[in-house]
Amino acid sequence: MSLVELEVDDQGGPVWLLRLNRPEALNALSRDLLRELEDHLARAAESNLRALVITGSGKAFCSGADLKERKEMSDRDVQAFLLWMGRVQRGLEELPCPTIAAINGLALGGGLELALCCDLRVALESASMALPETSLGIIPGAGGTQRLPRIIGMARATEMILTARRLSAAEALQWGLINALYPDTELEAFHFEMARRIRAAAPVAIRQARRSLREGFGLPLNEALTRERYLYAATLATEDRMEALLAFQEKRKPVFKGR
Ligand code: CAA
Repeated sequence: MSLVELEVDDQGGPVWLLRLNRPEALNALSRDLLRELEDHLARAAESNLRALVITGSGKAFCSGADLKERKEMSDRDVQAFLLWMGRVQRGLEELPCPTIAAINGLALGGGLELALCCDLRVALESASMALPETSLGIIPGAGGTQRLPRIIGMARATEMILTARRLSAAEALQWGLINALYPDTELEAFHFEMARRIRAAAPVAIRQARRSLREGFGLPLNEALTRERYLYAATLATEDRMEALLAFQEKRKPVFKGR
């Protein structure tokens, strides 16, 4: 049985849904699961995807590091595991396509940290999320102290990390930790709506906009605006830009080709 399952939605450009599949351990990140995830992400990087969605099977998204496996590890093993996990997370973060974490249930510790590596997060109404590490005698060691404040701001990230506060999905929406909330019964929309909306836009524009958002974020404003102009230029010569103008004139939906 695969510890990470792949479902492909291929109507109009490939969207991958990766499902962490260790429901009996709330999809905890064991070495075997991490290895499978790493393999899938390596293939995703080569697959010209329009978007990648990551979710969990059963009642959890991911309960973080496998604490049973962790108990048997030496300090050096834990360090090595964290470095490896950091590389897998960077692999997710640096995929050439937009990424969405579909948080179907609990997302704790390394599980939430995985979701923080995605461009967008959506959740089911019954989901909840926390970085409980300080209550376990450690700190978020897979990017949580750095990525969380970049997403929700320093004050709220500090509260979540220092108090190990668990947010309901509704609170997470209010705090900007997730982008959208879905009823537990609307699984199809929960998994694919955001990815399909991204797929409907022009691929080159999506790529350049994503680069501009990411590359400009930490720069002084003047440099960031120069970067934006440079990235915009690559969209000017595309057939898709002309198609959008034509479609507007003809009062129809554009058909983009990614050129
Ligand atoms: N590692 C290994 N197994 C886990 C696990 C984890 N992180 N989380 C849950 N499980 C297992 C449980 O041991 C249990 O297995 P058994 O039936 O064999 O005992 C099974 O999943 C179901 O869990 P529960 O019966 O505990 O379910 P619950 O609904 O009563 O409680 C829970 C859910 C509150 C999430 C509880 O399981 C829990 O506190 N888990 C630990 C979560 C946690 O602290 N994660 C952060 C880890 S630290 C980290 O990720 C940082 C890092 O180093 C990257």
